[in-house]
Amino acid sequence: MLKIGILTSGGDCQALNAAMRGVVKGIYNNIDNVEIYGFLEGYRGLMYGQYRVMNEADFSGILTTGGTILGTSRQPYKYMNIPDAEGMDKVQAMIDTYIRLKLDCLVILGGNGTQKTANLLRERGLNIIHLPKTIDNDIAMTDVSFGFQSAVDIGVNAIDAAHTTAASHSRIIVVELMGHKVGWVALHAGIAGGADVIILPEIPYEISKVVGAIRKRYDSGEKFAIVVVAEGAISKQDAALDKKEYKAKKKNSPYLSVGYEIAAKIQAKMGEEVRVINPGHMQRGGSPCAYDRMLATRLGAEAARAIIIRKFGIMIGIQNGKAVHIPLEKVAGKLKKVDPDSDIVQEAKIIGI
Ligand code: F6P
Repeated sequence: MLKIGILTSGGDCQALNAAMRGVVKGIYNNIDNVEIYGFLEGYRGLMYGQYRVMNEADFSGILTTGGTILGTSRQPYKYMNIPDAEGMDKVQAMIDTYIRLKLDCLVILGGNGTQKTANLLRERGLNIIHLPKTIDNDIAMTDVSFGFQSAVDIGVNAIDAAHTTAASHSRIIVVELMGHKVGWVALHAGIAGGADVIILPEIPYEISKVVGAIRKRYDSGEKFAIVVVAEGAISKQDAALDKKEYKAKKKNSPYLSVGYEIAAKIQAKMGEEVRVINPGHMQRGGSPCAYDRMLATRLGAEAARAIIIRKFGIMIGIQNGKAVHIPLEKVAGKLKKVDPDSDIVQEAKIIGI
């Protein structure tokens, strides 16, 4: 009997269900005697022993469904070694559940923080396979994570919509896109949506340059502009502050988010009203796009293959089109940022973004 635990942790994204379906199909197609334990709401389910015994049918018909059939929650890595309100040792509790259920392995779908906890569990002797999910695309050693392309597509839809109304009204519209501390979603969606300016956390902005770019566009006869801002964008001035000062400044900011701050700055300098669009959590919602369905299915199938050959302690990533097994200790804690010198950034610059 092969006993597999599975959970989804952290912020959700598209194709979580598709990935789990891939794992489960891959296992049931190749192994006869299987028991699947689906832990509810991420690591919380593992800590408190909340799970469902599931079978192949539970994972059928979910390829196109957004969200996660297991539910998820945020259990920050930095609090993992801090006991819960009742004094329970969270990490030990997760290990105890694993041992009590006599699991052979645990498949964990999640982003960076989830991956760090997955590595912690690996260090404590559990058989772990991690699948990289996040719209932010900030997981190192995989070219892409599932959820990213779907979020980019939604971002592009928002930019397309902004375009028509901005053109009709001769307006400047700021579109703020998610991405946590990195600018992947903003960069890809901005290029695909034909943004005039893209502001990434990795390249601290100067408002004079942003306004200069808009003015240059206006001088060439255009009457509207689209500025795409990553939620983690930061000004050059703020980037020079130390972490504590910056946190305090952000806490006291009168703006709802950085998109509104940049819009206000542009408005002050240009002397015309600027509108803000913030698709927010819509970027994580709805059905996965075709690419994410395919990617998540592939990674899920590879996870099944790894389980069958009993290869654990790995993240299944994708590099140059090939599924790869990355040791968790090598990847955990690393953040994949946009390189300002990368081809994609230079190409955006060449066309005037
Ligand atoms: O990591 C995914 C993400 O959507 C980020 O882009 C964003 O910063 C964050 O999660 C939002 O988190 P929450 O769902 O807790 O508001």
